[in-house]
Amino acid sequence: MAAELSLVIPTFNESANLRELLRRVDAALAGVVWEMIVVDDNSPDGTWRLAKEVALEDPRVRCLRRVNRRGLAGACIEGMLASSAPVVAVMDADLQHDERILPQMLEKIRGGADLVVGSRHVEGGSADEGFSARRAFISRFATSMAKKALNAQFNDLMSGFFMIRRAIVDACAPDLTPAGFKILADLVASAPKPLRVEEVGYTFRERHAGESKLDVKVALDFVGLLLNKASGGRIPVRFIFFALVGASGVGVHMATLYAALAAGVSFEMAQSLAVLVAMTTNFFINNAITYRDAKIKGFGPLALGLLYFYAVCAIGAVANVGIAEFLFHRYGLVTFAALAGVVMGSVWNFALSSLFVWRKE
Ligand code: GDD
Ligand code: MN
Repeated sequence: MAAELSLVIPTFNESANLRELLRRVDAALAGVVWEMIVVDDNSPDGTWRLAKEVALEDPRVRCLRRVNRRGLAGACIEGMLASSAPVVAVMDADLQHDERILPQMLEKIRGGADLVVGSRHVEGGSADEGFSARRAFISRFATSMAKKALNAQFNDLMSGFFMIRRAIVDACAPDLTPAGFKILADLVASAPKPLRVEEVGYTFRERHAGESKLDVKVALDFVGLLLNKASGGRIPVRFIFFALVGASGVGVHMATLYAALAAGVSFEMAQSLAVLVAMTTNFFINNAITYRDAKIKGFGPLALGLLYFYAVCAIGAVANVGIAEFLFHRYGLVTFAALAGVVMGSVWNFALSSLFVWRKE
């Protein structure tokens, strides 16, 4: 019989949880025809190998092994697109999501809902068990920001546990962002028409085995995603980070400048030093954040990358001054001309950095 429900399980180093997950899902979904698609990003612990073993024993299970790619959202998107069941659900592999609410979620879809969110923030839902106080705070903060940015009408926007009609995913798949963690918020923002959303509460459990992959960079991805959606998808996430790093460079520049002046260095020297220090810190921050998927490693490649980055920035500075001068002479507006120069220089730096400094094969 054809499956009514596809469970998409993104995994990275979850081999200690997979069999238990399957056992519990099987028990919870008695009477439903379902399939499971494990999407593994080539986990070092061999989760994909285990998943394929399991798939030989249980034909309802499949494994999609992705290589040279990382990212929860991208894994979820590809898993959902690989499915042919009319309903898909995304669920973590670490047993933090309560599989026992799956039948209730499916019931709501059958009753006409487009999207059902497993929610930690409605009555009957809680996050006390699986969250540290710090995580709980970050989660609440991110949720309220996202609700505002996306104008969403339901509570647990940060949830990684949801069920949706596959047709909706098919319709907006090309607009989804594969970077980061926040596939649900992205889906809601990208859906072609407002969705009929319902929530089912559950208790967020402690992770069964292994450790969390959510870190500061993942949180940054999320900020980038919100900014991207706020700009109507017109400004690429990577450029937003590049620009933010550039803006932070102004702070570094000023700090260096004043420190050097205080040390009795001449203004020209202090200014040059500040430019150099700001470019250098920008390079390393961009390497760690903006281009983390194309990160340059090792002393030689880093030194070379840094030199390229200096060259790119130097040309960017010329472009900046050129455009600003042109506009200033034409319109005589100082702030406008200067800002246009800054934007021009940033776009130039970004384009050339992406092409020459952090090029991806
Ligand atoms: N394929 C793939 N690639 N899977 C990944 C990746 C990745 O890069 N990163 C994480 N995963 C898988 C994990 O193996 C796990 O099954 C699931 O995605 C969630 O990852 P965790 O590392 O357990 O995340 P968490 O528990 O800290 O975060 C959970 O709570 C957040 C809400 O605060 C998740 O449910 C998030 O989706 C949710 O937003
Ligand atoms: Mn988890």
